Amino acid sequence: MLLGVAEQIAREAGALLRDRPAALRAESKSTPTDAVTEMDRAAEALIVERLHDLRPDDRIVGEESGHHDGRRTDETQDDATVTWVVDPLDGTVNYLYGIPQYAVSIAAQQHGETVAGVVYDVTRDELYAASVGGGATCDGSPIRCSAQTDLAFALVATGFAYAAETRSVQARALTTVLPAVRDIRRLGSAALDLCMVARGRVDAYFEAGMQPWDWAAGALIATEAGARVGGLGGRPPGSWTTLAANDALFQHLEELLVGAGDPSAAS
Ligand code: IPD
Ligand code: CA
Ligand code: CA
Repeated sequence: MLLGVAEQIAREAGALLRDRPAALRAESKSTPTDAVTEMDRAAEALIVERLHDLRPDDRIVGEESGHHDGRRTDETQDDATVTWVVDPLDGTVNYLYGIPQYAVSIAAQQHGETVAGVVYDVTRDELYAASVGGGATCDGSPIRCSAQTDLAFALVATGFAYAAETRSVQARALTTVLPAVRDIRRLGSAALDLCMVARGRVDAYFEAGMQPWDWAAGALIATEAGARVGGLGGRPPGSWTTLAANDALFQHLEELLVGAGDPSAAS
């Protein structure tokens, strides 16, 4: 049910995004390079409206418009109330430049955990989905993460934050990881990076300083595809560095990142 709603709405938002205006209006958010376009906002407005229609009692947290209460009053809401965590356009910078790597990410959470999630790869028309305990699929077919355990042959995706101070830390981690692996990919959509781990298109992924809407759906999809997804030192995903890979690669990369002085390892 939750998955069906998420899938339907992600496809609708994807159709809207596919119709990219030739003269795309964009402005800056948290930093000058953190862009938001008119299409990020339009896609989020569509998703919020459709969720209110189909799931009026639920809460929504959207990257661009923040918190929306459901129809139920505060007194009747509890931990079991579904909260939708929405990134209407993950890969905005790619979208701005016309690079065909961006996605709609929609996760449903209960009791603070993601119970269902979809990531729609708009330009490839591929729909990744997972629910807790139900496995992960791409277009309905089961997917599994890579079985590569040798770090030297691991293709590792990563991403960078928009804030310069965070990037300095990320650059230091990269100088440790890059010489130790097959190669690095910076593809520009965290949600798709996690789905690429889920289907073995990359062997691993790590990134620091993300927001819940970047990883909520993708982390469940990667987990249900057999990957270990988490922070360093047993922390949950999203606590500074989020790492996703099969268990063996997770351990190798965790060791490297902690050795590189990842700030979350010190706290
Ligand atoms: C960004 C992308 C990018 C990642 C950044 C995210 P946005 O999301 O996922 O790949 O490196 O950390 O903020 O801004 O395109 O929604
Ligand atoms: Ca994002
Ligand atoms: Ca976004």
